[in-house]
Amino acid sequence: TTAIILSIASGYLCGSVPFGYLAGRLKGIDIRQHGSGNIGATNAIRVLGKGIGIPVFILDMVKGWLPVWLAAGWIAQTGAVPEMVSIGKVLAGFAAVLGHMFTFWLGFKGGKGIATTGGVLFGISKAGMLGGWIGFLTFLFAFRYVSLGSLAAAVGVPTAMAIQMYREGHWDFVLLGFGIVVMILAFVRHRSNIQRLLAGTENKAFTKKKPQP
Ligand code: G3P
Repeated sequence: TTAIILSIASGYLCGSVPFGYLAGRLKGIDIRQHGSGNIGATNAIRVLGKGIGIPVFILDMVKGWLPVWLAAGWIAQTGAVPEMVSIGKVLAGFAAVLGHMFTFWLGFKGGKGIATTGGVLFGISKAGMLGGWIGFLTFLFAFRYVSLGSLAAAVGVPTAMAIQMYREGHWDFVLLGFGIVVMILAFVRHRSNIQRLLAGTENKAFTKKKPQP
């Protein structure tokens, strides 16, 4: 139990390090007042450029993966059964995503959780990660909206997990539950993007045009 609580706490702490916001601060700006106003890697690339935004993307993924990896070590050390280890990893990863989305230091207003979820999946579900990347890249390049790619990724993750579990004949409902809950949260966090997509005013990817705040 102590190892699980520690894992969840470290997940939230890692997840709540707002790399996009900090990178903006380094450049002397509050990223929340530029571009889409989001603190995630997409807006960091948009506002601060690729040189800073891509490292933010990588760090946002690492902060999802790291607590999962730590949790695995801590819980395994206690001699827990493998099922317990995998539940602890999922909880740590979920806490990291929540830390990114609902960041204490930023008045619980954080990012949208896509990069961080990607990092978590690297540690808990390669199938989910693959499904996410396929959804993301397909929709990003077909429609040229990062947000649409993110929403497709959010759907791709639990879909790929379910396909893999069906094929293996072994259902891990904790893992699948993680995929489904994160999908729902991602849609909730993308509310403003969805409204802009429907209105035809969403920021296009791969354009030099400066977006409206
Ligand atoms: O992962 C976030 C992305 O889907 C949207 O970011 O800055 O365009 O709202 P943004």
